[in-house]
Amino acid sequence: MTQATTDPAEFRFIAIARALEPIVSALRPGDRMPSLRRVARDHGVSLATAEAAFRRIESDGLIESRPRSGFFVRARAGVPVPRMPRRTTLALRPSVAERVRALLESVRHPEVVPLGGATLGPSLVAHESLSRSLARVARTAGAAGLTYEAPPGSLPLRRQLARLMAEHGVAVAPDELLVTVGCMQALQLGLALLCRPGDAVVVESPCYYGLLQCAEALDLKVVEVPAHPTTGMDLDALETVLATQRVACVLVTPSFLNPLGALMPDAHRKRLVALLERHDTYAIEDDIYGDLAHERALRPRPLKAHDRHGRVLYCASFSKSLAPGLRVGWLHPAGFMDRALTLQFTQVLATPTPTALALADHLERGGFERHLRRLRPLVASQVTRYRDAVCRAFPDGTRISEPQGGFVLWLELPAPPGSDVTLQRLCLERKIAIAPGSIFSARERFSQHIRINCGVPFDERMGRALGVVGELVRRL
Ligand SMILES: Cc1ncc(COP(=O)(O)O)c(C=O)c1O
Repeated sequence: MTQATTDPAEFRFIAIARALEPIVSALRPGDRMPSLRRVARDHGVSLATAEAAFRRIESDGLIESRPRSGFFVRARAGVPVPRMPRRTTLALRPSVAERVRALLESVRHPEVVPLGGATLGPSLVAHESLSRSLARVARTAGAAGLTYEAPPGSLPLRRQLARLMAEHGVAVAPDELLVTVGCMQALQLGLALLCRPGDAVVVESPCYYGLLQCAEALDLKVVEVPAHPTTGMDLDALETVLATQRVACVLVTPSFLNPLGALMPDAHRKRLVALLERHDTYAIEDDIYGDLAHERALRPRPLKAHDRHGRVLYCASFSKSLAPGLRVGWLHPAGFMDRALTLQFTQVLATPTPTALALADHLERGGFERHLRRLRPLVASQVTRYRDAVCRAFPDGTRISEPQGGFVLWLELPAPPGSDVTLQRLCLERKIAIAPGSIFSARERFSQHIRINCGVPFDERMGRALGVVGELVRRL
């Protein structure tokens, strides 16, 4: 029983250090901390106790003192990116649908901090300009704006989609496109066109869990090809898979793969298309994040732009760039339009008319491009702020992705296997949603990983929540 452990001043400086953590998280590297004098005054303690609190945070490596200038937030240099999983040619039936549903239900509540689902915050949705387009359509389209819109969907919209794709280097006619209910339904259609129950398809590892859900629903097996954190799918590994077994298609997100944010270089895209041709198979490209490059000049040309022989089916939507509630996506079904139309009649009968017309109006007036010009730099700086906050709040040994686009971070944690689900539960008890890593694989390879959504502007609430998650990781 030493005197020191019962000294209330000791507990006080620890409590103050904890209270300051959200402030540290909310600041950027190089930002100045509040002054000692202010902290002492706010907490009603002496300058010496305030300084002891600062020294405590400094010893955790989060801040540094500069002579005669005060305390500043430290950048954590050289945080490594997550490691690639091992290669495999094993085909497995995924079983993630129940866990994904649990995740999505948990993030519906407004009081839960939304670090789980990959969504933009309401302030980043193009609310005003879209509302004007919706109102204009309601005024001008009359009853025709409320009739059935049979597949392939609204022609004014398909004209605008063809224009967008041409700008990205894919020459298509409006008649080659099919309007869908979001990107998810485009992916489902693509898979239904190319696969039969029991077939194997290739996915990136890790990959968006929605692809695994689709494969599960269609009774498909998946072969997971490792994804590099910077360049995406490992094409040597893919080549081995294609050389050793028959796969119905390759599901690929070349631009800003969810959850890694990787960008497949152009040379890899060309090689991938050549592999498809050589092995007589197809790709379904998910380009939902293609418009969200962090560097403005870098709107990648889709894989589809390299496709000369109808090997790539292209899927996209406006859910990540404009507004997820629109539920407007599209599919370029390559040479399978006829069957795609039949399937689409069966699956949805028709797609919603008012949102399609409003979106066509919005695109025609340049609203989408204006919105993207504002959104892209915001998203890029948001991701940087979240990443900095994770660097500071999470224990040493944490590995963090360096996304080149999109708005999610992928973390490999210094925690035992199976920690992701425990962490998810502990976070939810504290009203924080995170996405557990194991749903990004059919093999549950990523149970020491989590995905963090950075789509909501970073503020003190987010910084505090990341502080809590980081502390929970420390205790795992
Ligand atoms: C990579 C990827 N593809 C598709 C989707 C689903 O898109 P939508 O909401 O347009 O159906 C998502 C949503 O998170 C996604 O991250």
